[in-house]
Amino acid sequence: MEKKSKKTMVNSWNEWDSLKHVIIGRADYCCIPWPEPALDAKVPQDSDMKGMHGPRPQATVEKANEQLDNFAQVLEKRGIRVDRPKPLQWCQAIATPDWKVNSMFGCMPPRDVLLTVGKEIIEATMSYRCRWFEYLAYRPLLQSYFAEDPDMKWEAAPKPRLTDADYKLDYLSDKITAEERLKWTAEKNFVTTEEEPLFDAADVCRMGQDLFVQHGFTTNLKGINWLQRHFPEHRIHAVNFPGDPYPIHIDATFVPLRPGLCINNPKRRLPKDQRKIFEINGWEIVDAAQPAHKNPPPLCYSSVWLSMNCLVLDTKTVCVEASEVHQLEQMDKLGFEVIPVPFRDAYPFGGGLHCATADVYREGSCEDHFPKQLDGI
Ligand code: GLY
Repeated sequence: MEKKSKKTMVNSWNEWDSLKHVIIGRADYCCIPWPEPALDAKVPQDSDMKGMHGPRPQATVEKANEQLDNFAQVLEKRGIRVDRPKPLQWCQAIATPDWKVNSMFGCMPPRDVLLTVGKEIIEATMSYRCRWFEYLAYRPLLQSYFAEDPDMKWEAAPKPRLTDADYKLDYLSDKITAEERLKWTAEKNFVTTEEEPLFDAADVCRMGQDLFVQHGFTTNLKGINWLQRHFPEHRIHAVNFPGDPYPIHIDATFVPLRPGLCINNPKRRLPKDQRKIFEINGWEIVDAAQPAHKNPPPLCYSSVWLSMNCLVLDTKTVCVEASEVHQLEQMDKLGFEVIPVPFRDAYPFGGGLHCATADVYREGSCEDHFPKQLDGI
């Protein structure tokens, strides 16, 4: 039973203010997509995802939904309003005039699609063909927010054509060694080209007036430039994390916990020149705790670093995956009340606790946490 707060208000400027209203995804009809250029670059040779496509086993869908429903209840018990998307039958072919693919993906990670900045929710361009129509699962919610909050702004970023010109077609995982891949990503040579603006919402980390956006496989420089033009009052910083062979989405790599404190994946450290803006503004960047698991669960696109993919409820409270004992302990030491949430069965459907959510309302306003700026970043 979803508890509804009295008034719908869209407002969220950062990742840490007091959370009042959130969307949590659903695993229904989720599909392992058929090969396409962006996905081929992402799936390692030795992954159990290699060669897999089609509907996910029903038992895994049910287990994931149990954990997603439980997560929703945990938040509702704390007085947070939780809305859920309306899944489509994702295992059906889709086409545009330029291409056709045999299935879609799912609506488990709303964070990838919806970017909330202040009173605005943007449907991201996305960068996989199988995710082109994913916004449809959120349309009933967006329509209701638009109707209920007269100040809500609703935007769809320009839909990309996603022709082959968007991808480097030689960027296939079985043609590149792991070492070559690390070298390429460190050199900012990613699978996507600069044909047109591309971004996934989960590449954007919101810290008030400053938005830090990962430039990688799913977000290109044109996408970052589109965001800067769209938000002229914000300062947009393109960031990179050498060491990540598959730079997709920022929230298993760099996660702010409260003003002045971020955790950073120790295998994917923010480069020295990009740390400067944090240092001169008195921010601390600490290494995230080691993951508790040696491998991700079966049929999972993400790495073990979903361990750090936590949902901050306010500057004193954080949800962490229940089996991630080292991350739980680190959060406790950092002074948080830690809420353990079982979530590993949902990981294969598109990510951890942060990925599985999209902000609608956090208390607070747009603040400047980086008053000292550097030129050229
Ligand atoms: N891109 C998220 C992860 O797998 O680490």
